Amino acid sequence: MAPEEAKKRIGSLSSELKHHNYNYYVLAMPTISDFDFDKKLEELTALEKQFPEFADPDSPAKRVGGFITKAFITVKHRWPMLSLGNTYSEQDLLDFDQRIRKAIGDNFEYVCELKFDGLSISLTYRQGQLLRAVTRGDGIQGDDVTTNVRTISTIPKKLHGGGYPDDFEIRGEVFMHLKAFERLNAERIENEETPYANPRNFASGTLKMQDSSEVAKRPLDCFLYFLYTEKPLFKTHWESLQAVKEWGFQTNVHSRLCSDINGVLKFIDYWDKNRFGLGYDIDGIVIKVNNYQQQEELGFTAKSPRWAIAYKYKAAEVQTELLSVSYQVGRTGAVTPVANLKPILLAGTIVKRATLHNADEIEKRLKLHEGDWVYVEKGGEIIPKIIKVNLEKRKPGAKPILYQTTCPACGTPLERKEGEAAFYCPNEEGCPPQIVGKMQHFIGRKAMNIDGLGDETIETLYQKDLLHKISDIYDLHLHSDQLKQLERFGEKSINNMLEGIEKSKQMPFEKVLFGLGIRYVGETVAKRLAAHFKNIDRMAAASFEELNAVEEIGDRIAFSVQEYFGNEKHKAEIEKLRAQGLQFVSEEKEVKLASNVLSGKTFIISGVFEKYSRDELTQIIEQNGGKMVSSISAKLNYLVAGDNMGPAKLEKAQKLNIPIISDDELLEMIG
Ligand code: IVH
Repeated sequence: MAPEEAKKRIGSLSSELKHHNYNYYVLAMPTISDFDFDKKLEELTALEKQFPEFADPDSPAKRVGGFITKAFITVKHRWPMLSLGNTYSEQDLLDFDQRIRKAIGDNFEYVCELKFDGLSISLTYRQGQLLRAVTRGDGIQGDDVTTNVRTISTIPKKLHGGGYPDDFEIRGEVFMHLKAFERLNAERIENEETPYANPRNFASGTLKMQDSSEVAKRPLDCFLYFLYTEKPLFKTHWESLQAVKEWGFQTNVHSRLCSDINGVLKFIDYWDKNRFGLGYDIDGIVIKVNNYQQQEELGFTAKSPRWAIAYKYKAAEVQTELLSVSYQVGRTGAVTPVANLKPILLAGTIVKRATLHNADEIEKRLKLHEGDWVYVEKGGEIIPKIIKVNLEKRKPGAKPILYQTTCPACGTPLERKEGEAAFYCPNEEGCPPQIVGKMQHFIGRKAMNIDGLGDETIETLYQKDLLHKISDIYDLHLHSDQLKQLERFGEKSINNMLEGIEKSKQMPFEKVLFGLGIRYVGETVAKRLAAHFKNIDRMAAASFEELNAVEEIGDRIAFSVQEYFGNEKHKAEIEKLRAQGLQFVSEEKEVKLASNVLSGKTFIISGVFEKYSRDELTQIIEQNGGKMVSSISAKLNYLVAGDNMGPAKLEKAQKLNIPIISDDELLEMIG
């Protein structure tokens, strides 16, 4: 392909795939099949390899829905991973029961299980050790995600007790608890990134991440629900579930043995009412004939077993009226539309608002008109969403709703960055919600946590012209006369506030850095950057490559940090804050030496380890007198290597003849 043509194709594939990622991860409404998506991704990856000069730094070939992914090895399943017949109706279940009776008579039992809404995984064990973990893929072959699955603490790496066969497969569902999902999404919202729509998609993106240490931080969990052995070991599925529990696998406590279809219907009814209290998403119930011999008699259709069926719960859905669309301007200027709805009860909570995500959602997908009646759905999902418009109820002459072209707060024309779905208000210094939002972020609990100063006070002091930027907070003591004149501001609360502000000057550098509100620099990233660069000057002077080389800092963050420090106004603000006494240098923690055995030796740690995190290994090295360095050179003494380390690092170390040791060998060195 000619370079010009390749450049164009890379650009169009890149923005198309970003759009599909957004549909999948954020809207949970894919408009393309997995197969077609993978084909386009393959084409883009090949083109970017051939023409690296045209590769998008934020290419979807490197990240899927915000997750940096890698190509996984494809593995064929020993037993195909079938799907189940689905139904939403009780009558279908009664028919399923009849068909089974006809085939095997009346003497059988069912096992009822929750249908976990995650992604299925097949685990192979040899001699009691986890050998491989493979995703479902197309059912015939899937991706080898063993290193990532090893980070899931409830999946045993080594089995307990005895009695398990030498070689077997066990299948289950990887999922994310709602609490963890909410926490991670809250972090995204705080960083003004669009939250993910549901835990399932979040979990599936996580399992395909490149960096297993990052996977380890996103708590995934797994319930196992089916054992495959070469020779039959048990008579029934129920017995196998009890046995695998003894071997160390997590099965679900809510599974029940039912003697007939009435028991099944009761189980379904119970969980229809109680499923929202589980703490993880289920989308139905799986019903399995218990006895293996009977399962064999019933056999399979081309796609699924005849001895099992899935009853799916309908997503809770209601119709309500759209009252208006309002717009929120965040501290980074992102403008998010929100649908205000006539309040209505849905799955136990009153819904008043639904997110509309962006302009395309309003104008292209939903084609919303004023006063429309809309269907709002809350599946397992946390944020209710508008599924579609009830066109029959559209009022004649209703005007289409058009996304704002100017900032609802300051009137500046909005801008859209190439490849992004959101619109931004570029008026960083003159747009009130951005100014106020930045200061509110700075004083927030996770940043400077200033006692005696809250969001409302910031708003009031901004209205009264006393605050415009973060450094003004530290000049408030110069305006005590004006403060005293404000309504509802007693002397005591003013003193509390000023004391809180003064005390906050001692907050560590990482908190200040997070508080500055640099785009994509969330709490964890701020910690990483502070720990790596130790002070703001080194960080501000760092090249893109130096930033990019820091653990967990990808292209997007590196760009954003550079952009931030490239702005003279930001630099001036930092100087002012520094002069006011805030911390821009990391405190050197005093390391108490446990021994001196590693003194004079340098180390690099790479890859993932089963027993320790990289931070723990760093601590062990430093506590025994060793020194961590950041790049491989001939002077390096040891490379401590775990699973999945980058091939380039390995090659370089081998070329320079640097001893490569395991974590166990490191521990041996220090005795
Ligand atoms: S058994 C041949 N049990 O639902 C039987 N599947 O539509 C294999 N799932 O691909 C599946 N919870 O990802 C089974 N308790 C459960 C399940 C379950 C969720 C998923 C699984 C499967 C899909 C079937």
